[in-house]
Amino acid sequence: MTQILVINFGSQVVHLITRRIRELGVSSEIKQFDLSSSEIKRLNPKGIILSGGPASVYEKDSPQLDHKILSLGIPVLGICYGLQMIGKHYGKVLPGKLKEYGKKRLDVKKPGKLLKGLNKKEQVWMSHGDLVSELPKDFEILGSTDNCKIAAMENNDRMLYGVQFHPEVAHTLKGKQILSNFVFDICKTKRDWFIKDLKNSLIKEIKNNVKDDYVIMGVSGGVDSTVASFLVHEAIKDRIYCVFIDHGFIRKNEGEEVKRTFDKFKFKHFYMIDASKLFLERLKGIIDPEQKRKIIAKTFIGVFEDKVLELERKNPKIKFLGQGTIYPDRIETAQPSKQADKIKSHHNVALPKKMKLKVVEPLREFYKDEVRELGKELNIPKEVVFRHPFPGPGLAIRILGEVTEERLEILRNADYIFIEELKKSGYYDKTWQAFAALIPVKAVGVKGDARSYEYIIALRAVTSKDAMTADWARLPQELLEKISSRVLNEVKGVNRVVYDISQKPPATIEYE
Ligand code: XMP
Repeated sequence: MTQILVINFGSQVVHLITRRIRELGVSSEIKQFDLSSSEIKRLNPKGIILSGGPASVYEKDSPQLDHKILSLGIPVLGICYGLQMIGKHYGKVLPGKLKEYGKKRLDVKKPGKLLKGLNKKEQVWMSHGDLVSELPKDFEILGSTDNCKIAAMENNDRMLYGVQFHPEVAHTLKGKQILSNFVFDICKTKRDWFIKDLKNSLIKEIKNNVKDDYVIMGVSGGVDSTVASFLVHEAIKDRIYCVFIDHGFIRKNEGEEVKRTFDKFKFKHFYMIDASKLFLERLKGIIDPEQKRKIIAKTFIGVFEDKVLELERKNPKIKFLGQGTIYPDRIETAQPSKQADKIKSHHNVALPKKMKLKVVEPLREFYKDEVRELGKELNIPKEVVFRHPFPGPGLAIRILGEVTEERLEILRNADYIFIEELKKSGYYDKTWQAFAALIPVKAVGVKGDARSYEYIIALRAVTSKDAMTADWARLPQELLEKISSRVLNEVKGVNRVVYDISQKPPATIEYE
């Protein structure tokens, strides 16, 4: 039984709420906004959180709340849009009046139950939206910001709580405290979410699900697909077929490294397919990022399908497709949330639709850090468990513009130097993700005594907790200097190195 239900009204960061709650050791799940109050009653959670969302509560077709939810006798916390819905039901909301965005100072007037343990002044993270303009009857104001009088409110008798800011994002420094107050003190939940215990139940579930059949699975060498395949392997041993497609956009030495890991752990069926020529051909002349992603996805599916057909002919007992999909993949592709805007298409989610196989997705409910915990439990080597995330389309979306063999070679070499130096200096483990990108414009330089006219390499290193927001990593100047000098001296075709200092948002981590 899930203790905290998060009702999704279309927020981009909705899954951060469940994530934070699980970090507190409490089970939590996201449900769509159209979940009825009677269904919620049946699920019998200990608490409900209403998420934020991009709409205005007054907009036509904006997702609406089943108001009976507010009187089920279950504590409710409304965040941003969630607060406004409570506000609209019991009081007044001014449409589209709040222009505050980003880090703001919250003046805590009275901690109440929700803001217990907070100081008089706290940093919070706001986003634009409607404004609860009149305090609903029987509610108390707990905190305000310059432009938002009712930034936090509560009504303990009815067990209704609301915040205009986002406690789930890291920029709200005491956000976790607020959620902890809600989950433990107000909802009276008990800790019930432990990764160690989950490993065995996941393996058992796979065994029950797959029975005597076989699983085929695409692996990339990344932590998600590796952990998923190791779980399946533990469950059904040699009845898993792993397929690694080299689309030509992988990093230097990557193919061999992946093969070594799977060999070391005695996977009997591991296939490596070199499809790099085909992918490069299909991307000829393509510069639009979404088109690139779509072509790569389509080609990938085609190559994978061919392999599946070939293996199925040999073994008709292949009935399942293993997938390393994790929870944020599903959210970012806006699958469970009809309301969330689509940012980028991730090809790993598109795969099953085309296949006639049943899907095994052992990690579908997990976040990256939870997957890493599972990886450690499965004794997967540290280099794999703590590997930086790498996008499915690989280096193709780190070459802005057309992908060519020459550009790939340049990027691969520059990226290799960057990562090598980060590892040597200990900064690899201090960053969420780091990579080089190739900017396909040429700049003038001087090499030896001659004028050069070559590409620009951008170095991007970010710190992040979950890739939803990210900050540029403050790498030491000496380290940057060493990397820049090595790239300029060792990589043919580059005469300028820049360091990217963009935060997400508004930039994304990847370039395309
Ligand atoms: P952005 O660029 O949207 O990326 O800030 C957020 C995180 O997702 C990774 N990413 C992908 N991962 N397939 C993946 O498996 C993809 O198509 C894809 N695109 C982006 C990105 O590297 C970052 O960690």
